[in-house]
Amino acid sequence: MTAPAPSEKALVPFVSVDNMMRLVHHIGLERLLFELTDVIEADFCRWEAFDKTPRIASHSRDGVIELMPTSDGEIYSFKYVNGHPKNLALGFQTVTAFGLLAEVSTGYPVLLTEMTLLTALRTAATSALAARHLAPKGSHTMALIGNGAQAEFQALAMKAVLGLETVRLFDIDQRATEKVLRNLAGSGLDVIACNSAETAIEGAQIITTCTADKQYATILTDNMIGSGVHINAIGGDCPGKTELHRDILLRADTFVEYPPQTRVEGEIQQMDPNYPVTELWQVIAGLADGRREAGQITLFDSVGFAIEDFSALRYVRSRVRETGLFQEIDLIADPDDPRDLFGMLQRSNTLKDCA
Ligand SMILES: NC(=O)c1ccc[n+]([C@@H]2O[C@H](COP(=O)([O-])OP(=O)(O)OC[C@H]3O[C@@H](n4cnc5c(N)ncnc54)[C@H](O)[C@@H]3O)[C@@H](O)[C@H]2O)c1
Repeated sequence: MTAPAPSEKALVPFVSVDNMMRLVHHIGLERLLFELTDVIEADFCRWEAFDKTPRIASHSRDGVIELMPTSDGEIYSFKYVNGHPKNLALGFQTVTAFGLLAEVSTGYPVLLTEMTLLTALRTAATSALAARHLAPKGSHTMALIGNGAQAEFQALAMKAVLGLETVRLFDIDQRATEKVLRNLAGSGLDVIACNSAETAIEGAQIITTCTADKQYATILTDNMIGSGVHINAIGGDCPGKTELHRDILLRADTFVEYPPQTRVEGEIQQMDPNYPVTELWQVIAGLADGRREAGQITLFDSVGFAIEDFSALRYVRSRVRETGLFQEIDLIADPDDPRDLFGMLQRSNTLKDCA
């Protein structure tokens, strides 16, 4: 006698790393980054519909493990993500993640997926979204400081969304820069390796910092930043972990995702609690000014917010349906009588004995 197959209600679509990679190739990386930017933009336009809370962080000497929940009243999502800068030296990634979408009406999950790749995609799409609204018009050159796991995604999202032409690379580890040179060969971007951060930012309208260090770092100092640039700072995303000298923040107009989270985790943790910031969603919704003049320095102090993951999850859900790039997994116990969970367990033991 064999156990009955799990019912429909027991099954949840699961997107493995393998299927996520197939999905990206099926859609096309740049097209996906472009579409995802639009999906995040649409969700930022209805920002007020979402439950918002700073992510729940468990810090240790080595890194951080975080849970990032949100809901728009119909769909709930959360992401599990870590950040461990020392992992690289051990042969592990700095950032890994997985996440889930659920129906608010029943609480039943409707998607479980890998999110390590998806986090790199959504972080790049969010950077491109901020740059779409804040970077100087006609930006064609970006400095990319920190050439690790996020780097290529950042470059390609800026190409897909803004028409970026040139990327100027710098990393303290030359092997990281060589990896990006290799990976972006044939991408249509002009990619230039530089031997210092100062050289990398020459002629760039956009400066992206995506380094990883669990301490206050100074990747950019005030004297390096000319007027009119847009800074996309993604690596400072934890208490005690920043990338910019505070003097830059005194000259810049700073845009953030969710202030209660960014004041603890972002570059602005270095500033007074009343340091002025503008919420990016308000610029996107037309409620606040973005770039007002050519000489203005704009700073997107990115830390990563749950609504971006919500957008990425709902995008994946809508696109995997048509491709079949998922497996159904038996995640939810589904007794015939919803109150007879124990009976279901008992009957499974009888079936095992009979086998
Ligand atoms: N804001 C967000 O939404 C978001 C999302 C994902 C990751 N992150 C953060 O982005 C950062 C990069 O992530 P990753 O996955 O690419 O990490 P990674 O460890 O793969 O790469 C980091 C790179 O930074 C380089 N680096 C370190 N110090 C440097 C310095 N002083 N100058 C130049 N290069 C330096 C390292 O050599 C490495 O190549 C991390 O801090 C991570 O926490 C932010």
